[in-house]
Amino acid sequence: MSLNQNQISIATWYNRYPEIFSELTKIINNPNKILSFGCSTGVECNTLSDLYYSKSKIIGLDINKEVISKNKKIIKTKILNIMIIYQI
Ligand SMILES: C[S@@+](CC[C@H](N)C(=O)[O-])C[C@H]1O[C@@H](n2cnc3c(N)ncnc32)[C@H](O)[C@@H]1O
Repeated sequence: MSLNQNQISIATWYNRYPEIFSELTKIINNPNKILSFGCSTGVECNTLSDLYYSKSKIIGLDINKEVISKNKKIIKTKILNIMIIYQI
């Protein structure tokens, strides 16, 4: 664990917060960019792109570069509206 890693768990799953994301789409409609801070594998980025904000650029940020290898969808398909950044 990095000294700056505030949350140790990397737990994440697809469509983890459906109620929150649905409410969010009512408040924020078609933003240009979305930052998923502490995105872990980036599955949250997949969720936002697939189900809620398909037209937005999704930027995932995480301090732990090892978790990206767990997201086969991001690795095997080149999803153009998602960018993942590790090691800030
Ligand atoms: C429990 S996961 C949450 C993943 C996703 N946001 C979700 O809700 O499904 C927390 C993530 O935050 C990351 N994290 C912790 N401290 C961080 C920091 N200072 N900067 C960036 N990412 C951080 C961890 O590496 C971990 O992958």
